[in-house]
Amino acid sequence: MRVDIISIFPEYFAPLDVSLIGKARERGILDVRLHQLRDWAHDVHRTVDDTPYGGGPGMVMKPGPWGEAIDAVLATGPAEPPRIIVPTPSGVPFTQRLAMEYAAEPWLLFTPARYEGIDSRVMAEYGARTRVDEVGIGDYVLAGGEVAVLVMVEAVGRLLPGVLGNARSAVDDSFAPGAMENLLEGPVYTKPPEWRGHEVPEVLLSGHHGKIARWRRDEALRRTAGNRLDLLAALDPASLDEHDRRLLKELGFPS
Ligand SMILES: C[S@@+](CC[C@H](N)C(=O)[O-])C[C@H]1O[C@@H](n2cnc3c(N)ncnc32)[C@H](O)[C@@H]1O
Repeated sequence: MRVDIISIFPEYFAPLDVSLIGKARERGILDVRLHQLRDWAHDVHRTVDDTPYGGGPGMVMKPGPWGEAIDAVLATGPAEPPRIIVPTPSGVPFTQRLAMEYAAEPWLLFTPARYEGIDSRVMAEYGARTRVDEVGIGDYVLAGGEVAVLVMVEAVGRLLPGVLGNARSAVDDSFAPGAMENLLEGPVYTKPPEWRGHEVPEVLLSGHHGKIARWRRDEALRRTAGNRLDLLAALDPASLDEHDRRLLKELGFPS
């Protein structure tokens, strides 16, 4: 997969050299290309922002440099343009489902902003030529979109074939479509079996795959009921078996 990122802080993306994503880049699974937005600002100060029309605090990123930068990136790729992802707290929520959708794309272009964001005409311009998604990574406001892009590239990158050591890891993750859809993963343990007086739940040592699977599902239901009532409410009733329903009733959530 090719990923282009245009930013006024390309150095912010140094973490993409590290760990799983760094290895995916070394192995050619992920081709990340960074671009300095200011290379397309032509005044002596390489200005990329200006005051907002309509007044108000803060500055808005000018359409000119963004348009030139995006055109230049598009010119280096195939005729089929990339899917453009514009991080913004006012966008649609970034979810595991969206990460999976992005992982199936051949080419993504991220446009992390600073200040109060990018002049909206940029999204209108490219929205007429390709898919432009305005995406938020959570209900809080960051100083800039770079961290949001790091989050998204990591979530997408680990789903690319060959990146995770064991492809099953992604299937069992919290939020993974299928058995874990709308469920959080429960607690995990490793050796030793006892640490500072805390014991690993016995069932995990039993070697009984059926019982272990049942225990994991119970813990996933417990954790979801404890931490995310919104996800619990979104559970498909058809995905619940008798045991699930009994457990949820015990937890105070009769279906
Ligand atoms: C200070 S924020 C602008 C916030 C804007 N005034 C608003 O309230 O929607 C600057 C930039 O940080 C990025 N950003 C901030 N919070 C974000 C979030 N939750 N998700 C994705 N991007 C975010 C976006 O690129 C945004 O344009």
